[in-house]
Amino acid sequence: MRIAVLASGNGSNFAALADFFQKEKLPAEIALVFSDKKDAFVLKRAEKFNVPTFHLAPKDFADKKAYETALLALLQREKIDLIVLAGYMRIIGEGLLTAFPKKIINIHPSLLPAFPGLHGIKDAYDYGVKVTGVTVHYIDAGVDTGPIIAQAPVSIAPEDDLTTLEAKIHQVEHQLYPEVLKKIVMSKGK
Ligand code: GRF
Repeated sequence: MRIAVLASGNGSNFAALADFFQKEKLPAEIALVFSDKKDAFVLKRAEKFNVPTFHLAPKDFADKKAYETALLALLQREKIDLIVLAGYMRIIGEGLLTAFPKKIINIHPSLLPAFPGLHGIKDAYDYGVKVTGVTVHYIDAGVDTGPIIAQAPVSIAPEDDLTTLEAKIHQVEHQLYPEVLKKIVMSKGK
């Protein structure tokens, strides 16, 4: 199985996945990392792991549809079977959803359906919930609304601030995403 990781930023989840795939001998590989941001740190991380990198700038295209058509062509040319979003800061459009039905997954830093959107960690912290967490889900046309695959809770202690909570969430993400990917890879192989 050939996996594409789509990311726009830091890429700590990509690194956790790449580490995992290096250690575990799975019938799958991270075949490429794609970013919509030329300077995204995830691209540097990918080079360290010897994973091929690709970049397309949405502003170079007439509209979102044209950008996604180019991205879809790239993914098809690279014979990608599964798309893994890891901090990819764009809504996936209809073209990609149709071409990859139930083959695009995302990780979100809250217990969905609570706190969807861009600031899942801060929104949960500001609300004052005592338990938040991490969700891995399939992508659909909405924002953070697709079918849930797995969730893990994270407690917010009285002494936590936003920084310590973010660190806790990321640590859980880095465990949960590889576990979920492994299950998906193993079930597709059967
Ligand atoms: C993660 O918190 C993920 O849940 C969210 O974006 C963040 C990406 O972090 N979708 P990183 O780029 O993997 O470090």
